Amino acid sequence: MNNQELKLSISSIINSSDLYESKLQDICTLLKDKVDHFDWVGFYFKNGDLNELKLSKFAGIPTAHTIIPFGKGICGQVAVSNKTFIVKDIEKQDNYIACNINVKSEIVVPIFVNGENIGQIDIDSNKLDAFTKEDEELLNFVCTKVAEINTPID
Ligand code: SME
Repeated sequence: MNNQELKLSISSIINSSDLYESKLQDICTLLKDKVDHFDWVGFYFKNGDLNELKLSKFAGIPTAHTIIPFGKGICGQVAVSNKTFIVKDIEKQDNYIACNINVKSEIVVPIFVNGENIGQIDIDSNKLDAFTKEDEELLNFVCTKVAEINTPID
């Protein structure tokens, strides 16, 4: 699937009548299954009022790291920096939390609702330096779409 087709599939998941959590699961599964170099795809969100992230839906090998304090690992750093973080080679990265031994590179893209960093999509690849500008652009699209369905209606 190319990015255009992936975006159409993401939009139809977002616009479906499914429950929010089921949409997140479908997005994880779609991305993991349809993009060769995406080997683990998951969403982490701020855990209530705590300065930590909590794992939500994911596709791939289960991880022990279901709670990540702000500042720790790539995910925790993105929670604080509000910026996309690409790790080309995890072996050369400080402050990295290893989830499984096969992972070689990673991208984490924050999700903003009304300017607030509410969470992120995290993708691991078993390939070195796997992530491209096109991936980043696709994941920005995913995060914008997920943000839309997070916005409280008042
Ligand atoms: N590697 C991440 C932890 C999450 S796992 O990749 C699923 C990190 O350093 O924050």
